[in-house]
Amino acid sequence: MKFNIAVLPGDGVGPDVTNEAQRILAAVGRRFGHQFKFQNGLIGGISIDKYGEALTGETLEMCRNCDAVLLGAVGGPKWDDPNAAVRPEDGLLAIRKELALFANLRPVKMLSMLENSTSLKPEVVRNVDMMVIRELTGGLYFGKPKRRWSNSRGRRAIDSMYYTEREIDRIVRVGFEIAMTRRGKLTSVDKANVLESSRLWRQIATEIAADYPQVKLDHMLVDACAMRFIQNPGYFDVIVTENTFGDILTDEASMLAGSMGMLPSASLAGIPGGKRRAFGLYEPIHGSAPDIAGMNIANPIATIKSAAMMLHYSLGFNAEAESVENAVLKTLQDGYRTKDIMTDGMKQVGTAEMGKLIEERI
Ligand code: IPM
Ligand code: MG
Repeated sequence: MKFNIAVLPGDGVGPDVTNEAQRILAAVGRRFGHQFKFQNGLIGGISIDKYGEALTGETLEMCRNCDAVLLGAVGGPKWDDPNAAVRPEDGLLAIRKELALFANLRPVKMLSMLENSTSLKPEVVRNVDMMVIRELTGGLYFGKPKRRWSNSRGRRAIDSMYYTEREIDRIVRVGFEIAMTRRGKLTSVDKANVLESSRLWRQIATEIAADYPQVKLDHMLVDACAMRFIQNPGYFDVIVTENTFGDILTDEASMLAGSMGMLPSASLAGIPGGKRRAFGLYEPIHGSAPDIAGMNIANPIATIKSAAMMLHYSLGFNAEAESVENAVLKTLQDGYRTKDIMTDGMKQVGTAEMGKLIEERI
């Protein structure tokens, strides 16, 4: 079978890491007899430089016509002027919204061989294996009113944490569906002691729980959750939460896995479950790291694991996805490390070498 994959490398280390993920997808294609056709497009600063927009209508259209999207990273100091009319991040927010990618899946797993590359005690992070599901197209990021103005008493600004029942319902269902494929425990994270939108969220989550008797649902306030991540992260199986909370919590959670360079993500336009597939965009959770761009230093594993998530969630290729996961594990077991996860006695390799070592193990 033939599949069209849109590739948006973006800025900074984006191209370094998407190159390696494409190498892996091509290897999977050869091994399992699929054809992946890559179509490149621009997003972020590089698109601003060329077209004056962080994401053009043509690029968006190209993505819509593909089976899935692979993305690198956006942003960099060149485009960081706070008064700039367009920002690289606008491209990311636009593609999420326009392609209706409401469900952001961020798995966080501590691999035993990386226990010593975390800043926390190995015994604290040893059992970390959670999936954080972040709502991605609502809440403070997109809610209206959203503006800045001034009056005689000074400047002011507003962002709105706005959620509809439909938006909460579908993301919470993603949480339950994913929990059914894992250890059956779902933690819904909110701020229901203060926020009205969180009280609605909690109510809807509790109602939906009736449809999933196999899953154990609990509710946790976001501040308590941030604390629990550091105190006892092994507690969590699946977390479902709103956009901004999910943004903050997943940066925190990434440190539980040793390095940001290890963590993939999927942003889906549908509720996965059973044999159902969803259109999706796949990207590492790390940023564009402009200081090491093009230097063959960046860890490509997060993007390679994102490609594995693509195989699983958008293409329904579970054996293929597993072969990528296993190749990553084997490469790490064989002692190869990029700089971000390097520890004594291991063999340090660059971005491309890491990609090739994983490719050999597919
Ligand atoms: C993320 C990033 C983005 C976000 C930025 C780059 C707009 O932090 O994907 O977590 O806030 O969603
Ligand atoms: Mg973030």
